[in-house]
Amino acid sequence: MNGDIERVIIDRHAIAQRVKELASTIAGDLGSQDQPLPKGLTLVPILSGSFIFVADLIRHLPLLMRIRMLSIVSYPGPRTTSRGARMQSELTHLPHTLQNTHVLLIDDILDTSNTLRLAVDAIQHRQPAALRTCVLLRKQRSSALQFPVDYVAFDVPDKFVVGYGLDFNGYYRNLPDIVTLKAEVLEQAERV
Ligand code: IMP
Ligand code: MG
Repeated sequence: MNGDIERVIIDRHAIAQRVKELASTIAGDLGSQDQPLPKGLTLVPILSGSFIFVADLIRHLPLLMRIRMLSIVSYPGPRTTSRGARMQSELTHLPHTLQNTHVLLIDDILDTSNTLRLAVDAIQHRQPAALRTCVLLRKQRSSALQFPVDYVAFDVPDKFVVGYGLDFNGYYRNLPDIVTLKAEVLEQAERV
């Protein structure tokens, strides 16, 4: 697995430091609101890519919260370019209790913005008191930069990256650093 890595883009220490810093910003914003949150905060992580980020982030967030996972797929199979996003199941499993709560929607990476747009629309439909968005990575391309997000941990080059929860064809999520893969690894899999 490590032999497939081309380059480390963000190492585990930089990730840990930034996640802690971001959590403190979020806690400052959400914890110091004039109106205390009567139902607490509802975190909505988009699966699967955000699971490691969210696991680290929430342990630095000393706020009352519930967590409701949302499943959206955008890259079926061994591909590195988006083919549009679709929800695996309708948001029907998201409880009506989103109404009047403060929601923090979390994704791993903002690329074409199809995924986040789909999730934002679905959550807005449920009339939360407020909705904020947070991504671990934002690619340096216009589709990502033009989409408004409240919190971004890192801006990254417009390259396909894996690790720290992000996958290629389901693999590499367990790499502790955020890395690019060797061209032959991507090409080989795309041909299968
Ligand atoms: P978007 O819908 O194009 O904004 O892409 C968001 C989703 O696509 C993310 O939640 C990821 O699952 C996936 N994705 C986009 N770029 C990458 C990448 O560089 N590596 C791995 N997954 C990615
Ligand atoms: Mg993915």
